[in-house]
Amino acid sequence: MIKLVYSPECLFVQKLTRISFSNGVCEYGISSFGKNQFSGMGRLQGKVAIVTGAAGGIGAAIARSFVSCGASVIATDMQYQKLKSWVDIVAANGLSIQCMAHDVTSVNDWKAVVDFAVATYGVVNILVNNAGVYPAGANSENTTLEDWNKVLNINLTGPFIGAQMCVPHMKKAGAGSIVNISSIAGIVGGNGPAYSASKGGLRMLTKDMAVELAPAGIRVNSIHPGGVLTPMTEGIVTMPGSDEILKSMCPMQRIGEAHEIASGALYLASDESSYVTGTELIIDGGLVAR
Ligand SMILES: NC(=O)c1ccc[n+]([C@@H]2O[C@H](COP(=O)([O-])OP(=O)(O)OC[C@H]3O[C@@H](n4cnc5c(N)ncnc54)[C@H](O)[C@@H]3O)[C@@H](O)[C@H]2O)c1
Repeated sequence: MIKLVYSPECLFVQKLTRISFSNGVCEYGISSFGKNQFSGMGRLQGKVAIVTGAAGGIGAAIARSFVSCGASVIATDMQYQKLKSWVDIVAANGLSIQCMAHDVTSVNDWKAVVDFAVATYGVVNILVNNAGVYPAGANSENTTLEDWNKVLNINLTGPFIGAQMCVPHMKKAGAGSIVNISSIAGIVGGNGPAYSASKGGLRMLTKDMAVELAPAGIRVNSIHPGGVLTPMTEGIVTMPGSDEILKSMCPMQRIGEAHEIASGALYLASDESSYVTGTELIIDGGLVAR
């Protein structure tokens, strides 16, 4: 069984550390890290980034890593209060992040976010489409059309609207990087029809836009996390027996940490990946390698 040990900072899951593993109980703690956790303070200097779904988990880790590396970050989420609470803590430590309430299925909300970015900073250089939902336990028989539409709207249509709205500004700037947080569910089956279809669709949306937008200097890549401990997976990984299942499936025999996905996003967002577009970066402890 996995026991979660959260510090008050868990809202933004900065760094998750395996504290102990004994008697079948695995304890994880979340500790904070300093401004230099992501080495290279200037890796995103002068860049303006929008990160969606940043109230917790992977999105919060990405927003935090980007601002630590010099970017101006607009972090958005439907759960505004949850988002603001960790942004306020980070601000008290000298790192300023703009946060906005944002439903990624709403064209008007997207317009407000992109307009704000351009009015405040004059440009959008980076878009991370991270917001997503995972309907645990869904299968092809119990998934209603309503469930299907909801998951596809958030996980696939939302990123498309956002990319469509950011691209004109990236074109004007002559460059841009779009990072879509897909999943290994976009590569292999077994995670429910709507989730798999949405993440597989996002994988191909990434490749299509990469081909189309390469001449404009805009790179589009996807990240495919395996199991990562976040609010989304908390209920699953704390289930009895889940640690044994994870160990048998994952060659690295552990769940991923949000900052390990953020490291990949940082690479794809930065100029270090200047010759990388249309790629799928799998960060899964070797899960789909077997
Ligand atoms: N945790 C994992 O194991 C895992 C694995 C593969 C992929 N992913 C993907 O990573 C991304 C981040 O997930 P996470 O694990 O950090 O989960 P999470 O639940 O902590 O974060 C998802 C965020 O998206 C937000 N959100 C949901 N619907 C929204 C909407 N309509 N508009 C705006 N925001 C909305 C939620 O409020 C939440 O803060 C998701 O796209 C998820 O599918 C996660």
